[in-house]
Amino acid sequence: MVDYVVYGRGSFDQLGEIIEPHRKKHGEPMIFLIDHFFEGKQLPNRVPLQDNDKIIFADVTHEPKTKQVDALAKQLKDEFGMISGIIGIGGGSTMDLAKAVSLMMTNPGSSADYQGWDLVKFPGVYKVGIPTLSGTGAEVSRTTVLTGPTRKLGMNSDFTPFNQIVLDPQLTENAPINQRFYTGMDCYIHCIESLTGTYLNEFSKAYGEKALELCQYIFLEKDRWDEECDDKLMMASYAGGMSIAYSQVGVAHAVSYGLSYLLGTKHGVGNCIVMNHIEEYYPQGVKEFKRMVEKNKIDIPQGICKGLSDEQFETMINVSMGMKPLWENALGKDWEKIMTRDKLRKLYEKL
Ligand SMILES: NC(=O)c1ccc[n+]([C@@H]2O[C@H](COP(=O)([O-])OP(=O)(O)OC[C@H]3O[C@@H](n4cnc5c(N)ncnc54)[C@H](O)[C@@H]3O)[C@@H](O)[C@H]2O)c1
Ligand SMILES: [Fe+2]
Repeated sequence: MVDYVVYGRGSFDQLGEIIEPHRKKHGEPMIFLIDHFFEGKQLPNRVPLQDNDKIIFADVTHEPKTKQVDALAKQLKDEFGMISGIIGIGGGSTMDLAKAVSLMMTNPGSSADYQGWDLVKFPGVYKVGIPTLSGTGAEVSRTTVLTGPTRKLGMNSDFTPFNQIVLDPQLTENAPINQRFYTGMDCYIHCIESLTGTYLNEFSKAYGEKALELCQYIFLEKDRWDEECDDKLMMASYAGGMSIAYSQVGVAHAVSYGLSYLLGTKHGVGNCIVMNHIEEYYPQGVKEFKRMVEKNKIDIPQGICKGLSDEQFETMINVSMGMKPLWENALGKDWEKIMTRDKLRKLYEKL
């Protein structure tokens, strides 16, 4: 789990004080990895830079790749030898990059070598996560999702969670409506997949129910977006992340990973595209999801698999079928009898 949590509007301004005890004596800097959306905006001016600290803007046009992580870690080793810590400020992509770079400062080889479960050998450097979008739960999870040479899979390990997170809902207030909805739905979908899954336990359930209640309030009861929504969605993301950290996600994520691997579809919107078509597995959740889409007047893309070749469908099916724990959580031990390759192909064709 994350070691330290700070929550509150304006808490970003405590960052200097929070990281101070973690500064190493020998000129090893703190690196602030900031989502490129904030380049030229006010936020970078509020970063507590000292000495040779450095701001790097993270290009998150595409979701993080192992190559990008390796290049960033190499750049920092070449320039500084070692660093005191890394602070990831941004959406799920930037936070995942920061987690992965922290680990690659101390673990040999390529980040692709650690895609899987419990392969990371050494703790990374001190790492802090500061979300500017709410929903992914990347701020609390024990994974960092990366696209590598052969697969899209996280570095899941006990060393992956942040040492510190700063949850300041003010940072999310400029998010575009569509992006905010898609990332918010990632959280809603985490709740549905966790709460209906076979891996469910009281720990996951306690967090999942709270996150679900917050999402329902924000996306169905509220008539306009305000500060309360940003405040509540940030806590929903945290609780939803805690829920899946101790259980697993399910069908929407397993199918969406295939889309993302082949077509580069972003995580939030990809999950929404799939969620629109999986009533069979989550009857109530999908019905409610559709009400949220309608009420918030969001367009979910359709027909994104039109015209794909057999080979491309095969690629997506292979990636998706590889997510065994997700399918097992969703459908039980006999999942392979329920979700056949044929059935999955038909589902992809509908998207
Ligand atoms: N580690 C985990 O447990 C976990 C869980 C779910 C998803 N993820 C990962 O998270 C990523 C998705 O994250 P996301 O949905 O937060 O989106 P994102 O981080 O990919 O960002 C989406 C877009 O929003 C912009 N943005 C970020 N903050 C903004 C703000 N405040 N205002 C305006 N624009 C802003 C970004 O620049 C980017 O263009 C994927 O890479 C996914 O694999 C990780
Ligand atoms: Fe997710």
